[in-house]
Amino acid sequence: MEPNLRMLKDKADAVAKNAHAPYSGFSVGAVIVTTEGQQFNGCNVENISSGLTVCAERNAVGKAVSELGPDFKIKEIFVSNFNSEGVTIHCSPCGACRQVLAEFSTSDTKVHYHGDNGNIITTTVKDLLPDGFDNY
Ligand code: THU
Repeated sequence: MEPNLRMLKDKADAVAKNAHAPYSGFSVGAVIVTTEGQQFNGCNVENISSGLTVCAERNAVGKAVSELGPDFKIKEIFVSNFNSEGVTIHCSPCGACRQVLAEFSTSDTKVHYHGDNGNIITTTVKDLLPDGFDNY
């Protein structure tokens, strides 16, 4: 694996270990790198009232906005995961996270996540959310 990707994967793995995921048993970690090189982590935080669960990607975006304000763009995001058996499986960002990532993305913002067979998939927010809502 290319060294930058390996570093992001290791950080995403580490933050996934902090997840609060007692209901699904599925721990997710996300690392955002901004176009200026700052990094922000997020993990999923579940709630006994299921609809209140927040995904790792959206928590990472919230941390970035809290620290930087809204005027930043995401260069890339790495999303990692462990299921209840501690195994990493295919997991791409959910639809809600795609729309939230789009808010702070460029046409070239990259998304890295695990595919099947241990491979890393690299795509863009734009490709994950074609024709996303942007009507304002
Ligand atoms: N989850 C994420 O953190 N990110 C995603 O993009 C998909 C799902 C979390 C939410 C929930 O805590 C668990 O994974 C199972 O859905």
